[in-house]
Amino acid sequence: MLTPTEWHQRFKFQVRWTQQLRRFLLTEAIPQMPNRALEVGCGTGAVINDFHQSGTLPTHVHLVGLDIRFDFLQLAQKQKVTLACANAYSLPFPDATFDLVYCHYLLLWLKYPLPALMEMHRVTRSGGWVIAMAEPDYAHRIDYPPVLSELGKLQRQSLIQQGANPDIGAMLAGLFIQAGFQNIKTGLLGGEWDIPQDEETWRAEWRVLEADLQELVSKEKLQEYRKQDASAWKSGERILFVPTFYAIGQIPC
Ligand SMILES: C[S@@+](CC[C@H](N)C(=O)[O-])C[C@H]1O[C@@H](n2cnc3c(N)ncnc32)[C@H](O)[C@@H]1O
Repeated sequence: MLTPTEWHQRFKFQVRWTQQLRRFLLTEAIPQMPNRALEVGCGTGAVINDFHQSGTLPTHVHLVGLDIRFDFLQLAQKQKVTLACANAYSLPFPDATFDLVYCHYLLLWLKYPLPALMEMHRVTRSGGWVIAMAEPDYAHRIDYPPVLSELGKLQRQSLIQQGANPDIGAMLAGLFIQAGFQNIKTGLLGGEWDIPQDEETWRAEWRVLEADLQELVSKEKLQEYRKQDASAWKSGERILFVPTFYAIGQIPC
């Protein structure tokens, strides 16, 4: 079981993967910067922190972060943000409160993503935007060399056991249509990595893998995978690509 601080480290890595995509979504995909924005499922505030540090969202934007976990929000308190501990299915805001509502790696964790998207729709003003910034599709993950594809399958299985839908990325467009958005655009995050991968990133990813897989595979087998993975990254032939989708939709005027 990871502590909130360990989760925060994990979220910070995910935030690095999607940094350029978020900049594109906020500066090019929507026609103007919001005055009031809400992140649903903000966790420890990793995305909000990055928005502040990178200047992607100007400081005048009133940002609200909402999460169901109070212990995560305690870490998010360090940011300049208004926080709310609440459930994505019942957002504690009147209709049409925000210009922009977004989420980042949230929908895969929800048993019912459609009602949550409809709530996001409700609290966004007409003409405003809702963005699901990053949702994975582990069913189409690419692992190379082939011996490591088993690792990908185990990670997907572990996410299912934790209650997630690891394949939700491919469903995003359909969900946005059903939730009643207009002018929907969807796409996929690109994949780039350094060869060899930097050691710190590799170790951090393995800490997560070990926590996720400890009940699915023996310690010995996991160590075997770890060695194979290390050697493939060092030689430069390792490929690990999880297709990660985004979707953006507008509230009808
Ligand atoms: C993978 S984390 C992503 C956190 C943050 N968006 C980020 O990218 O750093 C998913 C977050 O969704 C929150 N969450 C899960 N179910 C929720 C619900 N029903 N209502 C609100 N938040 C929820 C979790 O507590 C967690 O913080």
